[in-house]
Amino acid sequence: DAVDSLASEIRDAEAVVAFTGAGVSTASGIPDFRGEDGLWNRYDVDDFHVRRLRADPAGFWADRLDLAEELYADAGPNAAHEALARLEEAGHVEAVVTQNVDGLHHAAGSESVIELHGNGSRVACLDCGERFDAESVRERVRGGERPPTCDCGGLLKPDVVLFGEQLPEAAMLRAQSLAEGADVFLAVGSSLSVEPAAGLPRAAERRGATLAVVNLDETPLSDRAAYDLRADVTDVLPRLADAVLD
Ligand code: OAD
Repeated sequence: DAVDSLASEIRDAEAVVAFTGAGVSTASGIPDFRGEDGLWNRYDVDDFHVRRLRADPAGFWADRLDLAEELYADAGPNAAHEALARLEEAGHVEAVVTQNVDGLHHAAGSESVIELHGNGSRVACLDCGERFDAESVRERVRGGERPPTCDCGGLLKPDVVLFGEQLPEAAMLRAQSLAEGADVFLAVGSSLSVEPAAGLPRAAERRGATLAVVNLDETPLSDRAAYDLRADVTDVLPRLADAVLD
């Protein structure tokens, strides 16, 4: 079937790059944005804009605390993260480029992980750039420090990309070069609708990579994909890893 044929392309490939979105973490209990139970059905997108943090830092941090407690408490990696880590360990995946901020690829054992949208387990100072552990800052927010500030007096911000902000440049450059050098590009659990990250699968496909999309919903690249698997990532990725590593 399609999974076996994709597995044999992966086995023969020099460079396989995985590109992941929120759909790889829904089975870990973290909602996605645009799927059926997505966050945008419940939250106002403007609350995730850097303008909101600047205009109402105390309110922004109160919301983040609720969000962190609801979304990330106790989330651990699932079979999809684990399958990608197994493939990397066996030398069949060069890197995982992720739009997720949940750190679950690292938790599953992936080592070459490029985080395009930052990491929610850290907090950064908007003035001096100093980084802190997010849980320790949330503890301060719980204790009434709203908004939390740095020793230098600067405002603290979760170390994730908010709307209105640029992607971290080094991560984006590395991701671009990986995409352009890929023989097989696996886009999994992403609506492929948010720029500039969504440019990566397009760039890979333009350079001749075999594009495989694994996603429950159709994506703007589904038509162009050599493999368009409308299926659950926790079903397909373990089967794919088994077939590659067999
Ligand atoms: P989206 O919510 O846009 O897309 C997730 C996709 O995963 C949806 O198309 C779902 O159908 C699919 N999906 C959900 N669970 C799945 C499962 N178990 N198996 C297969 N597919 C599943 O999330 P992203 O594409 O990651 O940016 O969104 C990109 C960016 O939009 C996010 O990084 C975030 C948001 O704005 C920032 O916060 C900067």
